[in-house]
Order: sequence, then C-alpha cells, then structure tokens
Amino acid sequence: MQLLVNVDHIATLRNARGEGYPDPAEAAKVCEQAGASGIVFHLRKDRRHIKTEDVYRLKETVKGDLDFEMAATDEMLAISKDVNPELVTLVPESREELTTEGGLDMETVFEDFRDRVFPAYANTDIAISLFVDPKEKDIELAAKLGSDAIELHTGTYANATTESDKETELQRLKEGAELAHTLGMKVNAGHGLNLQNLPPLVNTVPHLNDISIGHALISSALFYGLDETVKKFLTIINNTNK
Ligand code: PXP
Repeated sequence: MQLLVNVDHIATLRNARGEGYPDPAEAAKVCEQAGASGIVFHLRKDRRHIKTEDVYRLKETVKGDLDFEMAATDEMLAISKDVNPELVTLVPESREELTTEGGLDMETVFEDFRDRVFPAYANTDIAISLFVDPKEKDIELAAKLGSDAIELHTGTYANATTESDKETELQRLKEGAELAHTLGMKVNAGHGLNLQNLPPLVNTVPHLNDISIGHALISSALFYGLDETVKKFLTIINNTNK
C-alpha cells in the first residue's frame, strides 16, 4: 500500500492571490522527501486549481508515481499523452461541483471508453484507472474494458455519520476490492480520507495499492507542517494489521 498526495489545494491557495506561491511542484518535493510514493493532481476543464503549466512542472519534479486525474475529454487525453505519467485516473466531472461527487457511471461511459478512450492509450506505457463506486456492475464493466486499476470512491464512507452506516460502507468497499482483485485489477482508493477515517479503511479493505489523499492532508499541513503530516498518514498506512 502506498500514499499518493493530491496537491490540487496547494494550487487553490496560490490562485487565491494570483502570486506564484505556494507552488504545487515544491509541495510535491516535500511530500516525496517525507516518504510519499507519488503525487496526484486533477487538471480540471475549468483549471480552477492546477494549471496546465503545473502539470509539466510536476512531471519534471516528481520522482515517484505521477497520477494524472482527469475527465476523459479529447483535450485531456492529448495533454496526458504528452505528459506521459505512470497513471491516468478517469473521473466524472461537472462544472458546478465543488469536488468529484461520485464514481463513473460505467454503463453510460462504456461504449465511449471502449471505442475512443482506451484505444487512445493503446500504444503508451500509461496505466489506466477508473474512479468507481463500490458497485459490482461498475467494477465488472471496468474489468471488461481491460482497465489496469480501479480507484474505489471512498466519499460515501467518509461522509457516513453513524457507526452502522460507516460499517455498511466499509463492507461495500471490502467486497468491491475483493471483486476487482479477482478480476485482475489493481485497487486504489480515495476521496474524503483523513487521519480519523483512514485507519478503519486500511484495516478492513484488502488489496489496496495507491491511497490518494488531498484536502484533509493539505489542511492538516497548515497546523502540523507538510512533512510531519505526510508522516502521520504514512504511519497509518504502514501500520495496518493486514
Ligand atoms: N481521488 C479522486 C478520484 C478525486 O477526485 C479526489 C479529489 O480530487 C481525491 C481522490 C482526493 O480527495 P480528497 O481531496 O477529498 O482527499
């Protein structure tokens, strides 16, 4: 299991004043020095946080895995192929949302992904991950496309307020991870994870590969510093009882 830090909100803070700092690429360096295995960013159509220039700076700076999160538009396919990250994670994206609101509806995107998106990466070394909810049908369709990985959407678990709802969501994630693993895909996870809800997740859900964490980690870094915060998350990831 490895930690990939999402640096989108370093860019959010920078863009609030239009100055050149804080710099997502500098933050990426600190995260990797603290032990993170890689960096994630989401280049949104509206460029509300990460800008196209950031992507190229991150490609130059990041030594570990670079995960390019994006909507599957022709523009993003072209930029991602030019950048050549280790991984692209395809997500649904709507203009009004504050953040990604759920996994891909695989039935809706299936034909487009089969005919346009997956062929676009056929002659590259870029691995593909599909951001999905822990639903059997979506996971099966991801496997049918030949996806290298899925990223399980952990947002519903993160937002659950009662112990019983949290337990239900953990069980769904566990079953989703088991199914994806059986179908030969790597299992990543992310969205809404923090220092409190990460331990039950990593101790319950099997086969986890990349854990992608952004907002809560960058927020905690305001109080503890980026280096120390990355280490706090790594302590959880490295001390799972699985
Ligand atoms: N994974 C995906 C697919 C996402 O869209 C996001 C948010 O950009 C994350 C992980 C990270 O979520 P958070 O910022 O809540 O940690």
